[in-house]
Amino acid sequence: MQQHAEFPWRLWPNRAAVRDGRLWLGEYNLIDLAHELQTPLYLYDGETFSAAVDAYRQGLAQWPGSSRIAYAAKAWLPLPFAQLLARYNLDLDVVSAGELGIALAGGVQPEHIHLHGNNKSIGLLREAVRARIGAIVVDNLWELDQIRQLADDDETIPDLWLRLNPALLAPTHPYRQTGHSGSKFGLSREEALTAAQTIRNHPNLRLTGLHTHIGSQIFDLDPMLEAATRLMELAGELHRRELATIRFICPGGGLGAPYHPDDPPIDLAEAVERTAHHCVAAWNRYNESAHPTLILEPGRSLIARAGIALYTVGSVRQLADGKRIVAVDGGMADNLRPALYGVRYTAALTGNPLGETIGPARIVGPLCESGDFLIDEIALPPVQPGDILAIPMSGAYHLSMASNYNGSYLPAAYWLHDDTLIPFQRRQTLADLMQRDIPLSNEI
Ligand code: LLP
Repeated sequence: MQQHAEFPWRLWPNRAAVRDGRLWLGEYNLIDLAHELQTPLYLYDGETFSAAVDAYRQGLAQWPGSSRIAYAAKAWLPLPFAQLLARYNLDLDVVSAGELGIALAGGVQPEHIHLHGNNKSIGLLREAVRARIGAIVVDNLWELDQIRQLADDDETIPDLWLRLNPALLAPTHPYRQTGHSGSKFGLSREEALTAAQTIRNHPNLRLTGLHTHIGSQIFDLDPMLEAATRLMELAGELHRRELATIRFICPGGGLGAPYHPDDPPIDLAEAVERTAHHCVAAWNRYNESAHPTLILEPGRSLIARAGIALYTVGSVRQLADGKRIVAVDGGMADNLRPALYGVRYTAALTGNPLGETIGPARIVGPLCESGDFLIDEIALPPVQPGDILAIPMSGAYHLSMASNYNGSYLPAAYWLHDDTLIPFQRRQTLADLMQRDIPLSNEI
């Protein structure tokens, strides 16, 4: 028998609390919310997001020039969150017409939007030009050729940044490594110099920035800092060759977030501060020109911890070996990450978060495959059908990667702003599932 010696608060939103033996978010009892709003249900704590933004701002203050935070939209971007990001005066990294459209609809200033992606269509590039976004981040020479053709008869092409592939392997899951030489992302140093020359030769193109991103969910800062060094070196080289003066420099996002009590802690402000200090030294080593605007591009480290997912327990099956299979009403349709990357989460019973555990349980979903699980193994107190289970660290890459597999409805999402719970996304309905479908006419 195991006792929850310490509840892993560092994995939960700032305003999560245990009162009267129950789990709360601010003034909201999670059991009541689950009953009232239906599960699966995603709740976001605005204060936790705010604190993460503050930590980034505090760390970035160590950079002598100006600095910006560019939120990576892929982590989660419903329209009301885009509106909130605009109020926070954050930049936005988008990679598709969809993300670009939501950002613009949310009132994010076009000049604060950067377009990424390794295979941008000509249509997407045209939309970016039309919207007059802040920067298109050139990922490869083919794309630059497309942009060059657009520029032949258009002088309003946004600033161009080059994405450097620094040929560095990030210490993370292979699906999240983006900076090694075999990766599909970015330009090698040689290609970047070629691209800079092409841009220099075109009267309607301007190279103003450099970017890199070596991967995601990274706890060891060293390879990220090395990638930043290579960016600063390239900036110096471009200046020396009179190819460009770099005014924006972005060593990417990718700071890790702990999902499980065994994962290492990370102090955001400290990690960002260390990154800023490193960038100052690296810039000064290779450059004499003024410090450019330093941009960091986090997704997960800003929003993952703000989110909790709530599920209702259905069947509880006792196996002969003592393990329980606890089925809940959500799974790989709203959180693909355990199945896709083997991510380990923790959970708590909202009615008994600190209870004495009676042995291991596997938390599975309702979908028709065995990969549909949320937690492979966790020690839990006794569990009954109808109990509400909460999974923390659910704010990033859950709903943005969610699907309608098996006809699952995407869950509702609510945002706790001060003491008010604001609906951000309603739960899907059957009508939503069939919205794109075109019924057969009676003639065929
Ligand atoms: N910048 C670029 C160019 C990126 O590709 C990404 C993430 C980020 C910034 C933000 O990275 P973050 O700070 O959130 O780690 N689906 C995976 C994560 C894939 C991230 C892809 N790119 C997951 O669930 O872990």
